[in-house]
Amino acid sequence: MNSHYSRIAGTGSYLPAKVLANRDLERMVDTTDEWIYTRTGIRQRHIAADEEKTSDLALQASRKALEAAGVAAADLDLIVVATTTPDMVFPSTACLLQTKLGARNCPAFDVQAVCSGFIYGLATADQFMRSGRFRNALVVGAEIYSRILDWNDRTTCVLFGDGAGAVVLRRDRTPGILSSHLHADGSYANMLSVPGTVCGGKVSGRPLLQMDGSGVFRFAVKALDDLVEETIAANGMQKADIDWLVPHQANIRIIQASARKLGMSMEKVVVTVDRHANTSAASIPLALDEAVRDGRIRSGQHVLLEGVGGGFTWGAVLVKW
Ligand code: ACO
Repeated sequence: MNSHYSRIAGTGSYLPAKVLANRDLERMVDTTDEWIYTRTGIRQRHIAADEEKTSDLALQASRKALEAAGVAAADLDLIVVATTTPDMVFPSTACLLQTKLGARNCPAFDVQAVCSGFIYGLATADQFMRSGRFRNALVVGAEIYSRILDWNDRTTCVLFGDGAGAVVLRRDRTPGILSSHLHADGSYANMLSVPGTVCGGKVSGRPLLQMDGSGVFRFAVKALDDLVEETIAANGMQKADIDWLVPHQANIRIIQASARKLGMSMEKVVVTVDRHANTSAASIPLALDEAVRDGRIRSGQHVLLEGVGGGFTWGAVLVKW
């Protein structure tokens, strides 16, 4: 019987200072605040400053999570960064973050699972913690989507924002993370992608986000429904046992569909999409940090984190707080 588990000991998040409201977008593309809000639930998003890099956003969120956990950067045994918008091709954003934090020698790597990235990163770190050889792990979701958007394409540029969220995992004898459930189906790769790559010193292919919005919508609702059933069954629980749903923040209508499936009132769902828009791998830890810091999520409660993203990838982590 395994006696090593991980608990979330601290959370942190960071949003760049600049706010871009729907009203501002009205001056950039043929759209309206009303269209964006009724279709997506988004009112505004944060945009990184030119000099800010993904690792800088990650650093701010990580420092807050470490402080909340009472863990020094030097005591980290593992750093996992989920991002689709790394600082550069390599080194990984996790390595760049490690040195900015002043941590040394611990393994550090990136996970690339787009909007499910934080779920993938958390599940991966939990497996390391269960080995019993790691005491403290940092898991971060950090993104600067504003740099991979076509700001002339109203069908995509209104949906995304920049930000970072982080958690510190601490080894424990009793589980905080109860179970994790990961899936992928690469046959949907073309439905949501940034098809560019670096080749021979040039960018080859279009390095901007493109998607089939209604196809993504349909897939996301079904995948999240299935995840709820799978997670609850794996833990021998009832839907009513879930105290909080912290979903990936892509679109309020996807979130509402997921809550309906759980038979859960929207009061029990953490929503930040109105203020953050879709920050991809950062959206779940950003929302989690908000609900932890304002006292909604409390000790002993069951918290379901779930997300779906490009790949397609999808996954859930069930946490006892
Ligand atoms: N402003 C005004 N009109 C717009 C805009 C805009 N920003 N964008 C599209 N339109 C127009 C379209 O051109 C279309 O016009 P037409 O009927 O004349 O052709 C009309 O609005 C309706 O477009 P639809 O695409 O049918 O609108 P829909 O109700 O499907 O909403 C949306 C589109 C919001 C993208 C929705 O499909 C969606 O949220 N999909 C999920 C996509 C998503 O969340 N992706 C994020 C990444 S994946 C993830 O995180 C899970």
